[in-house]
Amino acid sequence: MKLADKVAIITGGGRGIGQAAAMEFVREGAAVIISDIAEHDEVNDTLSQIEVLGGKGMFVQTDVGDEPQVISLVNHTVETYGKVDILINCAGASDPAMLTNMTLDKWFKVINSHLTGSFLCTREVARHMKGQNHGTIIFVSSIAGSEGTIGQCNYGAAKGGMLGLMKSCAKELARYDINVNAVCPGVVKTTMTETIRGDEKFREATLNRILMGKFGTVETIAPMFRYLASDEGHYIHGQVINIDGGMFGL
Ligand SMILES: NC(=O)c1ccc[n+]([C@@H]2O[C@H](COP(=O)([O-])OP(=O)(O)OC[C@H]3O[C@@H](n4cnc5c(N)ncnc54)[C@H](O)[C@@H]3O)[C@@H](O)[C@H]2O)c1
Repeated sequence: MKLADKVAIITGGGRGIGQAAAMEFVREGAAVIISDIAEHDEVNDTLSQIEVLGGKGMFVQTDVGDEPQVISLVNHTVETYGKVDILINCAGASDPAMLTNMTLDKWFKVINSHLTGSFLCTREVARHMKGQNHGTIIFVSSIAGSEGTIGQCNYGAAKGGMLGLMKSCAKELARYDINVNAVCPGVVKTTMTETIRGDEKFREATLNRILMGKFGTVETIAPMFRYLASDEGHYIHGQVINIDGGMFGL
């Protein structure tokens, strides 16, 4: 097992990409702390599956944009498992509107959940990881962070901000043997993209941009987290890794 005895916090682990990451990690022997703003039905399914696999895991309800809740999430993890080895910053919401209709509420909802949430979680786990002199931090950004996206300037800004945050953290944390990277999915079949994929015109236009001609699945993304968190992937540092079936920059 590649992650035996490791302890991983996965924000937004209640469903979708974060949930797939949690299962991937448990199969490799890690204890997982699934944190999410909501206790979706999938959370309980995940906890049951972890039990069936004989793995360790718990759910901690957390709004990653809320400083006291994030501090409590990390403290609770360290109190329960004695350490934290891996953080996956996967939580985040979308709230689309064209630029001229974008309200401050929509702006801050998306910026807080992705960008402020990643900052707070990274800062708190880094305080522990520095003492351990080892760790892995992964930001789940998006190709929208590099190329922007129509109708979601809040999301494009948040995801672009996460790339700058990742690079800055990579520069600060390398000396503590903490590898820090960003994984950028293209369009993956999850709840977040249901509306986009359900709209025939948008669906066709998007599929035409993907060289492989198909959307990603959570299983196409989660193994990269496992690799980056394992000893084999530890020397990968400060990178932006696009997983999009051939979409960005082609
Ligand atoms: N699905 C895609 O095509 C795609 C593409 C690029 C990037 N991403 C990113 O991948 C990550 C996971 O997305 P997904 O597709 O699995 O979406 P999802 O909506 O299924 O999962 C996101 C999870 O984050 C949680 N969340 C939202 N706001 C939160 C907050 N403030 N605090 C804690 N949890 C919060 C939600 O409850 C949900 O469980 C997101 O950061 C998303 O931006 C997704």
